[in-house]
Amino acid sequence: MIKDISNLQAKLEELLITQQNLKTQGHVADYIPALAEVSPTLMGISVATVDGKVFGAGDDKIPFSIQSISKIFGLVMAMNRIGDDLWQRVNMEPSGQPFNSIIQLEWEKGIPRNPVINAGALLIADVLASHFSASKLAFLSFMRSLSGDNNIYIDNHVYQSELSHGSRNAALAYLMKSFGNIEAEIPDVLSHYFTQCSISMNCQQLATSLLFLANKGIDPRTKNSICTPRDTHRVNAILSTSGMYDQSGEFAFSVGLPAKSGVGGGVVAVVPNYGVICAWSPPLNKYGNSIIGTNLVLGIAEELGLSIYH
Ligand code: DON
Repeated sequence: MIKDISNLQAKLEELLITQQNLKTQGHVADYIPALAEVSPTLMGISVATVDGKVFGAGDDKIPFSIQSISKIFGLVMAMNRIGDDLWQRVNMEPSGQPFNSIIQLEWEKGIPRNPVINAGALLIADVLASHFSASKLAFLSFMRSLSGDNNIYIDNHVYQSELSHGSRNAALAYLMKSFGNIEAEIPDVLSHYFTQCSISMNCQQLATSLLFLANKGIDPRTKNSICTPRDTHRVNAILSTSGMYDQSGEFAFSVGLPAKSGVGGGVVAVVPNYGVICAWSPPLNKYGNSIIGTNLVLGIAEELGLSIYH
């Protein structure tokens, strides 16, 4: 039972204050140098509800690099485009490995464990690059239409930084190609993947864009069907089991919501039939998840009594 909080706005502001003394913990991602330039002390949170309310506190209107949160949107686009054929090429199991690990991919003959580790997201990038005449533009248009904001942009500085430090992602893509599981040319796959990771959005825009996952696939703002109820269930299931990488078990244990993180410091969590939480703070823990972002989602979930396991 979700608690009805009349002063959610004030609650969000209180929650941010509880995190002030943790600002020095963790490390901003620096394996993509452009991400290391972001101030580690920024933090924001937003909650968007399926009945049209948006709450926010702190730096919730400052855009940040969405990074792996983009994997959710890519997955939805690929499911819509090629249907169940997708599941011949990527699995739906937790990996138990870091998000950019390469070891398991060889054992498992180029079939990624799930669509939200890097190998899986590169596979999805291949599907999009192979099936759309202009996949990067199609992705950006999808984000703009879901958020209702045409100002959403690709941060070219982050893109260039990823491109020039993308050897591990290139290795994952070439390994999958060697097993015949990548169709397009690798530079096109990488270019699509780095582009979607380099999109900048703020907490409010991300929370709003994901409302369809809390509403059986229907965007509550426009009433458009974004994906089928069955695929909504599947995406939420993958986010519940793998969205926080090697910390997904602990996150399910303590929070209990389908969620996804990105190395830009964003964390999104879906509350079916209620709404979406998006929290942001750049410093990351050893799993690549935002320390304060994860705490903020936990805090609001506890406050409102949100969990899919109740
Ligand atoms: O490929 C990468 O390493 C980044 N562009 C995205 C990784 C990411 O966000 C993982 N999330 N925690």
